[in-house]
Amino acid sequence: MMITVSSPASLSNLCCGFDILGMALNEPFDTIQLAVKDEPGIVIRHTDNYQLPVNAKENIAGVALQAIIDAMDFKKGFNVVINKQIKPGSGIGSSAASAAGIVVAANELLGKPFSKKQLVSFAMEGEVIASGSRHADNIAPCIYGGLVLIRDTASLDIIQLDAPELFVTIVHPQIEIKTSYARSILPKEIPLKSAVIQWANVAGLVTGFLQKDYGLIGRSLEDVIIEPVRSKLIPGFDEVKQKCLAAGALGGGISGSGPSLFMLSTSAMVATEIENCMKAVYEKLGIEHKTYITGINNEGIKIIS
Ligand code: HSE
Repeated sequence: MMITVSSPASLSNLCCGFDILGMALNEPFDTIQLAVKDEPGIVIRHTDNYQLPVNAKENIAGVALQAIIDAMDFKKGFNVVINKQIKPGSGIGSSAASAAGIVVAANELLGKPFSKKQLVSFAMEGEVIASGSRHADNIAPCIYGGLVLIRDTASLDIIQLDAPELFVTIVHPQIEIKTSYARSILPKEIPLKSAVIQWANVAGLVTGFLQKDYGLIGRSLEDVIIEPVRSKLIPGFDEVKQKCLAAGALGGGISGSGPSLFMLSTSAMVATEIENCMKAVYEKLGIEHKTYITGINNEGIKIIS
């Protein structure tokens, strides 16, 4: 009664699709091992250096796992070992990887009693701790794989979308932006003019993915509502964006709630040039940073053993 899964990083929002679009990535990913124990309760151990809480009630994975235990009225307990490679607070779905990974692992161990949609709902209980709100745009791609649209978060109307092969370049400047803070500074109301631009871009982006129209994808990677507010929290944002577009990126912006930035491109060569542009900006600013070149992970969470 033991299982180990890998749970991937994810890109959420994809510029115009705040809280409704997300994409699972091949790298980086966390590893979660789960074993049933006879006594009730959740015992969590971390084998990384992030000093995350081990008390199950304060731990994102612990809360998500408790949601499954409660739903099944499960009388035994679990030992959990988590190795996070996705740095908390990076904007590439660290909390979602913990929450989604553990519920998928538990579902497998317990004979798959729950649907993917139910698993998203359990995992969202954990995500609430990180962001203070129920949103599924990182969790759903982890659980379903690939590119996902959440048409309605309350009823979890989740649609998997086809996407062409894309290279994703990410830079993570080593500053921390808490999702709860990045959400608290957003406007509660928006002008109709901005809304029209934003929903046209969402429609354009989805169509671009489905029709494999790279030009349309690039034109639609525009965010006139969230980016102007959140980009002020990210040093070098404008310069990174401008240089990456000049280097041939289709487009990009803030990954999730930041501080990571992402750019999409259609070749390994351009993806590397984009990475060099990102590094050059943060080296000049003297800000430590980490970069990734990765791609869309169509499988999502994988069972390793
Ligand atoms: N859609 C969320 C946000 C993702 O932008 O706040 C962060 O988890």
